[in-house]
Amino acid sequence: EGLFTYDPGFVATASCESSITYIDGAAGVLLHRGYPIGQLAEHSNYVELCYLLLFGELPSKAQYDDFAATVRNHTMVHEQLVNFFKGFRRDAHPMAILCGVVGGLAAFYHDNLDITKEEERRVSAIRLIAKMPTLAAMCHKYNIGQPFNYPRNDLDYAENFLYMMFGNPCESYEVNPVFAKAMDRIFMLHADHEQNASTSTVRLAGSTGANPFACISAGIAALWGPAHGGANEAVLNMLDEIGDDSEENIQRFIDRAKDKDDPFKLMGFGHRVYRNFDPRAKVMKETCDEVLGELGKADDVQLKIAKRLEQIALEDDYFIERKLYPNVDFYSGIILKAIGIPTNMFTVIFAMARTIGWTSHWNEMISGSYRISRPRQLYIGHSQRDYPTK
Ligand code: CMC
Repeated sequence: EGLFTYDPGFVATASCESSITYIDGAAGVLLHRGYPIGQLAEHSNYVELCYLLLFGELPSKAQYDDFAATVRNHTMVHEQLVNFFKGFRRDAHPMAILCGVVGGLAAFYHDNLDITKEEERRVSAIRLIAKMPTLAAMCHKYNIGQPFNYPRNDLDYAENFLYMMFGNPCESYEVNPVFAKAMDRIFMLHADHEQNASTSTVRLAGSTGANPFACISAGIAALWGPAHGGANEAVLNMLDEIGDDSEENIQRFIDRAKDKDDPFKLMGFGHRVYRNFDPRAKVMKETCDEVLGELGKADDVQLKIAKRLEQIALEDDYFIERKLYPNVDFYSGIILKAIGIPTNMFTVIFAMARTIGWTSHWNEMISGSYRISRPRQLYIGHSQRDYPTK
């Protein structure tokens, strides 16, 4: 008793063994099941990556087709779930709705679920991956007061999401292939990142034997904060706040980020594990240039501000000494905005994409040997004292 390692914020504690994702933070390397993220982003697609993360190997053509068809088969949500949405305020933040409705899925699929059975865990995983875009788009439609769209299974994963987000009964909706490709890439770049705060939350909740839908909703809650998944929304808010791209103005915000008496931080900068370029940020920046180029918006003022901020920070001693580099979310928001996604949906999209990572970690944990997670503490309160009786 009493011989604990005190590690606030878990900067030096491995909580599990895992063979899903490898990060070398000093070198800026990210591998999923051994494959570099850059190669996956270039040659694979999100659904294939889901298969890889969940099952450990890339699928054959037949396995891929079968998996993609099974995912499509599960895209609809139970019609009663619509009632669940109606309980929320019209202007509720989509993340607030998502936390609730994903947890609510447990009400539909929990009763007969035996998580010790591999097949049942697989179906739950597929249900989650398949239904997340439907639920995410419903959060948006509810927020703007438009009718929900049923999924269209003739479209691929990213196309279907865009259709459910932007299609409406009054006009036909053509999915822009550049947007769909960018969206798919954003999903891939957010798919997994080993034991981050939300994944650790999912594992912790899962270690009690809780059902996967409840565990994923715990992950969504942990992702929400601006230090984690909320950063993509925070980046856009920051770029809005900076406003104009004059040199003095941008420098003023850099100085504020360096000032310890100012709570302002350069959002989308810094990472607990990467002390080098976040490899996802490189791909994200290229995708950003591609999408804005395609839209003829290469001189977008927010893109200009972001690029200049990055440039100044990378040459500034404060950021160099602390090894602060742009992370995955520095450019993702600009792409999402260019596609037409409202800012309050950015973190929802992160959650959607990360669902496969959470589910894969949950599945890995449950299929191996594990114990309930139970951190200890250093007690710094009162020693025993008597209750005052008069
Ligand atoms: N702007 C200004 N200073 C910073 C920043 C920043 N974005 N990030 C870290 N620092 C400073 C920090 O103040 C500290 O300085 P000092 O040593 O003088 O006290 C030093 O750099 C080390 O930072 P830390 O806060 O101890 O690092 P951490 O590992 O605890 O936090 C972080 C990592 C990501 C929460 C933090 O860098 C941050 O808040 N960044 C902005 C939010 C953000 O972009 N988050 C998204 C992360 S990537 C997506 C995801 O995985 O969710």
